[in-house]
Amino acid sequence: MKKIGILFGQENTFPQAFIDRVNHKAKEANLEITAEFVQIDKVIQGEPLKYHVIIDRISQDVPFYRAFLKNAASSGTAVINNPFWWSADEKFFNNALMTKIGVPVPKTVILPSNQLPTDTTHNSFRNLTFPLDWEGIFSYIGFPAYFKPHAGGGWKSVYKVTDIDEFFKTYNETEQLVMMLQEEIQFDEYYRCYCLDRQDVWVMPYEPRNPHHLRYLKDTTVAPEKNKMLTDVVLKINRALGYDFNTVELALRDGIPYAIDFCNPAPDADVHSVGEANFEWIVEAAANMAIRRAMEHREGLNNLTWGDFIYSSANNEPLVEGAYDSSLKKKPKSKLGVKKSAKKSAANDGDTDGEVKAEKKQKKIKAA
Ligand SMILES: Nc1ncnc2c1ncn2[C@@H]1O[C@H](COP(=O)(O)OP(=O)(O)O)[C@@H](O)[C@H]1O
Ligand SMILES: [Mg+2]
Repeated sequence: MKKIGILFGQENTFPQAFIDRVNHKAKEANLEITAEFVQIDKVIQGEPLKYHVIIDRISQDVPFYRAFLKNAASSGTAVINNPFWWSADEKFFNNALMTKIGVPVPKTVILPSNQLPTDTTHNSFRNLTFPLDWEGIFSYIGFPAYFKPHAGGGWKSVYKVTDIDEFFKTYNETEQLVMMLQEEIQFDEYYRCYCLDRQDVWVMPYEPRNPHHLRYLKDTTVAPEKNKMLTDVVLKINRALGYDFNTVELALRDGIPYAIDFCNPAPDADVHSVGEANFEWIVEAAANMAIRRAMEHREGLNNLTWGDFIYSSANNEPLVEGAYDSSLKKKPKSKLGVKKSAKKSAANDGDTDGEVKAEKKQKKIKAA
């Protein structure tokens, strides 16, 4: 029997719906799979858990859970999302990687925190030039600009600043937060997109300038070509980063989708905020993903997802889309962020055997 667990915090609607959906599907298809809320009592180093798959919705707020999940991963639990990568990643790196793979992002700089981090003194910062080249920074970013933490979420400490005075006034209030200053994208359209298993994408028209309860635009449809264009960007981002469960926010300016916020590994999935249709999609896609991952679980091996950035780095190769990702199936591999002439050799040296096997398995699961 394969076991799937969900680890969650204050949310009330998604976890139960997810469990019910997995169990329902497993029963219908006669699969040896069951899902439940993760149960933790004592956590002993290196001790395997009964879970083959865990969906993690909360370890960003509970460091004990993050350590618990890394321990579980060491014994082969497929933790969604990869707790090692999630710990390492943040928004400024996200943007930096996008510049390498050709995904448009707003111009962005990172700044040292306004206040010294605890237990540091001015001597800890002797590598920094004082004052910073503010003029250079402001002329690169322009005003108005967004000023927001390099790691965070839920619109916490996100500011729009209109000029230099307002910037410094705000900066002086940010204490020890590490902040990014970012070009404002004055957008015509805005989308939030769920992306699951680096293969399933759901595009949600979104108006961030509306009051909270009116942000998901329930009656707006997305033309098929636009949907495809947005989906391709979302997949590219998540394959590079290696998130199994994420949302990407895209702002369209002059038809170009700029990635604004794409480090949301425990995105809002509450029926009361995303609405019925979006909720139905995420419950179904998450259940399918968890079942797939349980069926693909390999005993005694690492079952985490490592995105193309990590995979290519570990293999001392240039960044190659689909280097690791079985969901790309037999699509020819194309190098990202490198010249066309380099493409040929990369397309020829992949292990498609593993991909074909994974594809067959996936077909089976889909049929289930
Ligand atoms: N560069 C930007 N250009 C335009 N709008 C932005 C920009 N950055 C953030 N915003 C707006 O602020 C909101 C919150 O910022 P975001 O980066 O998504 O932070 P969080 O991770 O806290 O959600 C976004 O949904 C968007 O409406
Ligand atoms: Mg956001």
